[in-house]
Amino acid sequence: QPEASAARVIVRDARNPLFIPATITNSSFGLTAAPGTATIGSGTTTSVWQYNGSFPGPTIVAKTGDNILATFQNKLPEPTIIHWHGMLVDPANDGQPHQVIRTGETYNYNFPVINRAALNWYHPHPHMTIGKQVYNGLAGAFIIRDAEEAALNLPTGKYEVPLVIRDISLDKSGNPVYSPTGGGYFGKTPLVNGTKDPYLDVDKTVYRFRVLIGSTSRVFKLKLSTTNLPTNKEIPFTLIGNDGGLLPSSSNQTQIEVCPGERLDVLVDFGSLDPSTKVMLQDVNAGWNLLEFRVTNTSASYSGALTVTSSIPTLSAPVAKRFFSFDGMSKINGKLYDMHRIDFMVPFGQTELWTFKTNGNGPHPVHIHGASFQVISRTGGRGRVFPWERGWKDVVLVNDFETVDVLIRFDAYKGVYVMHCHKLEHEDNGMMMNFEVK
Ligand code: C2O
Ligand code: CU
Repeated sequence: QPEASAARVIVRDARNPLFIPATITNSSFGLTAAPGTATIGSGTTTSVWQYNGSFPGPTIVAKTGDNILATFQNKLPEPTIIHWHGMLVDPANDGQPHQVIRTGETYNYNFPVINRAALNWYHPHPHMTIGKQVYNGLAGAFIIRDAEEAALNLPTGKYEVPLVIRDISLDKSGNPVYSPTGGGYFGKTPLVNGTKDPYLDVDKTVYRFRVLIGSTSRVFKLKLSTTNLPTNKEIPFTLIGNDGGLLPSSSNQTQIEVCPGERLDVLVDFGSLDPSTKVMLQDVNAGWNLLEFRVTNTSASYSGALTVTSSIPTLSAPVAKRFFSFDGMSKINGKLYDMHRIDFMVPFGQTELWTFKTNGNGPHPVHIHGASFQVISRTGGRGRVFPWERGWKDVVLVNDFETVDVLIRFDAYKGVYVMHCHKLEHEDNGMMMNFEVK
């Protein structure tokens, strides 16, 4: 850092290399949750909770058809459980609030990967402490590959970069501060892959970014700022996928709004930019610079797809309708979560229309375990379904005064699953329901 040796240190401009978590490619692996320390930027060591000593946790990479054998060890000072967010697994492997792994205990997960290619993730799901545990650092990416995706020759290796985006507040000694109110918690500093003020050197070519919003409350509106370019040329994201994998068709987007739990799969072409160009990934909502891309002198050719289509099956007409009102900061249909109560039954293999509505205290990112869904309409509020909400989803943002309709069919496993608000403070307050697929 040249600034560091200069007389005037401009701390604001100090940037740190983006941390890229190690990958786990063997389908049999161990995950240990434990307190530890992480360097989030030049000289800042912070106390966090980690999987396998990494903040965020290692990126798991598997293929459709693999069988996952994961040995989980809890070395935290309190109970926890891992949920594989987005993965279609049976209830015993799903990591639900009633499944408690105490300090010192081990739990063996064993499930086949039946999802299509997608970016999923793993995080704790304990009863009433999910916000704190995720905030403390427990989260990691889980990438699934399949033949449909492989045929596209998308960027891979160092050209495929997971970006786990979240916010955090740090005290004077650099340790996380988490003091949520019932309504949520908003950190004062953005982190990408656990790095504060990160930069990434990029070659002149196409990159694939696998974006995961790992905040507890904060909704981000992502944009690539090119304001420092003489030509002021806009660099769009080529949006190719979301929570449930490839979209029916790709499109160029200049701003993408994403909420806790949502994922994006985007291509960005740095090929035509002059070396030393700086491109800033920004959050329009908070006015934050999230990540600086520094274009290097190195060119790399790219022969993979730049546009993508994928055929997404149409679900049959719904044979049942259910209505869910997200009330205040803690209730669904007027009820607080009770882990021993089954709130409703859902017949296996039947297409249903589920309606989510809120009159306030949003945003409520609604997440459902056990099946992916298709968003068919949004009325009120923002009043439309966005391009990144097409295809398969497992989280959908319901803002104040919005009504969102989704089609869903549970055709993977029977048993008890949960649906909840993924604003983790709302979830901890009780904004969650149990249902049984049978
Ligand atoms: Cu990402 Cu039920 O959670
Ligand atoms: Cu909520």
